[in-house]
Amino acid sequence: MSRDSENSVPGGVTDELLDHEYDGIREYDNPLPKWWVWMFWGSFWFALLYFFHFHIGAKGTSVAQAYVDELKEAREAEAKMAMGDAVSEEGLAKLMANKPMMEDTKAIFKARCEQCHADKGQGLIGPNLTDDHWIHGGGKLMDIYKTVDEGVAAKGMPAWGRQLTPIELRKVVAYVGSIRGTNVPGKAPEGEKVDMAAVLAGGGGAAEPSPSAAAPTGSASAAPASEAAAPQAAPSGSAPGAAPSAQ
Ligand code: HEC
Repeated sequence: MSRDSENSVPGGVTDELLDHEYDGIREYDNPLPKWWVWMFWGSFWFALLYFFHFHIGAKGTSVAQAYVDELKEAREAEAKMAMGDAVSEEGLAKLMANKPMMEDTKAIFKARCEQCHADKGQGLIGPNLTDDHWIHGGGKLMDIYKTVDEGVAAKGMPAWGRQLTPIELRKVVAYVGSIRGTNVPGKAPEGEKVDMAAVLAGGGGAAEPSPSAAAPTGSASAAPASEAAAPQAAPSGSAPGAAPSAQ
């Protein structure tokens, strides 16, 4: 061992040979540098505090969760700005077109509506919201808004206008709007049958379907041709009307 002769350190301090010996092995007193010790204890305490704050204590929010929360807040703010004051078909359609916001809103539907309308809106105590039949109004967003806001006390549908914030109310109405026409098998249809395709196309179905509805009363051979033309005419005709509301 040539260590004995090389035991000086850069600072000029000479190592001391400690006076104990284990199985013939002796050791020098080599203290770790101060900066290293500080870093060690610093990271030790930081890790311990971090662990309790983020993993044990309920208060801490992880960076990933904070990011998700912030995005959600941003969407809320966006919704508030986009809506203006008065509730309107266009305002609700705007919310409905916002996919991530509709994802958030699933939680409201789950907490407030699912027990009566089932998980996909297919109906349980309350009617199926995904079929083409509506008891109140014609399945337009404003019709839904009215029912959800005021409720149907006699039938057990709560008046949500009193229990949800205005923004929650609009969002959940838009969410119901987004599941319209998905036709999930569930509760048998109730109420009046509505031309859902026309309602969803945006025009409310007033102008476009009437010529094609009148056509089959003509010759039988002309009917298939006019019916084939109608679906192409309807979306292109209603697109200009629907486009602004989707932005
Ligand atoms: C306690 C049970 C219950 C809960 C909770 C409930 N509903 Fe209803 N809902 C009903 C019933 C019952 C009706 C049928 C009313 C009628 O027959 O006139 C209904 C009707 C409706 C209608 C009208 C359907 C139509 O055919 O016109 C809409 C829209 C609706 N509910 C949306 C919602 C939304 C959105 C929520 C959650 C915020 C919700 N409901 C929560 C029981 C409930």
